[in-house]
Amino acid sequence: MSRAIKIAPSILSADFANFGAEIKAVEAEGADWIHVDVMDGHFVPNLTFGPATCAAIRPHIKTVMDVHLMIAPVDPYIDAFAEAGADVLTAHVEAGPHIHRTLQAIRANGMKAGVALNPGTPASAVTPLLEMVDLICVMTVTPGFGGQKFIHTCVQKVAELRHMLGDRDVHIEIDGGVDPSTAPLVTAAGADVLVAGSAVFRGGSVENPAPYGENIRAIRTAVAHG
Ligand code: DX5
Ligand code: ZN
Repeated sequence: MSRAIKIAPSILSADFANFGAEIKAVEAEGADWIHVDVMDGHFVPNLTFGPATCAAIRPHIKTVMDVHLMIAPVDPYIDAFAEAGADVLTAHVEAGPHIHRTLQAIRANGMKAGVALNPGTPASAVTPLLEMVDLICVMTVTPGFGGQKFIHTCVQKVAELRHMLGDRDVHIEIDGGVDPSTAPLVTAAGADVLVAGSAVFRGGSVENPAPYGENIRAIRTAVAHG
């Protein structure tokens, strides 16, 4: 597993009427993964889309389809997201009482398993799960909406998780408020996957995708110069 920094634009900030073209454009401009935010109006107060939309956009993704489930319950939908072609499927540790079984089911369905932590959840919540995950997603905003302010107290949690993981091959992903000013803080603490919605899609469009590339490069440059 490569620990090189990966930028994962969230299509939550893309044109919802044009996901296929948006994905193609942002990948051409340098995206490493595509982050797909699934919300149910119950676990989080917003609603987006489900497995049918994921299946529809899958052929347009050449990189990695990184599906972030902000739904509860999770287990009844795992098969559907596997069929939709998710490469990584991430469930929240707060989404139900049986996260252990959820992670087992995700891997049993041939996907990489991710576990996400809300800003108020301590790193220790995933201590019993370290052997069962391929990715830990540290939420640096309260999930539900794009464009929120980065919560700085979460940076310490990233460092704790990387320490807990030791030499295990597990990605640490950061989700929420990532931009050129906050990205270096979390990569220095041990994160390697950076989700960015508004900071990637701002200023650009399918007709004018160059800003997507400029925005991605601005994050990479900031990280490289720490
Ligand atoms: C928030 C989502 C994020 C969101 C990030 O609930 O999980 O993926 O799109 O958006 P920005 O980068 O704008 O904070
Ligand atoms: Zn997300």
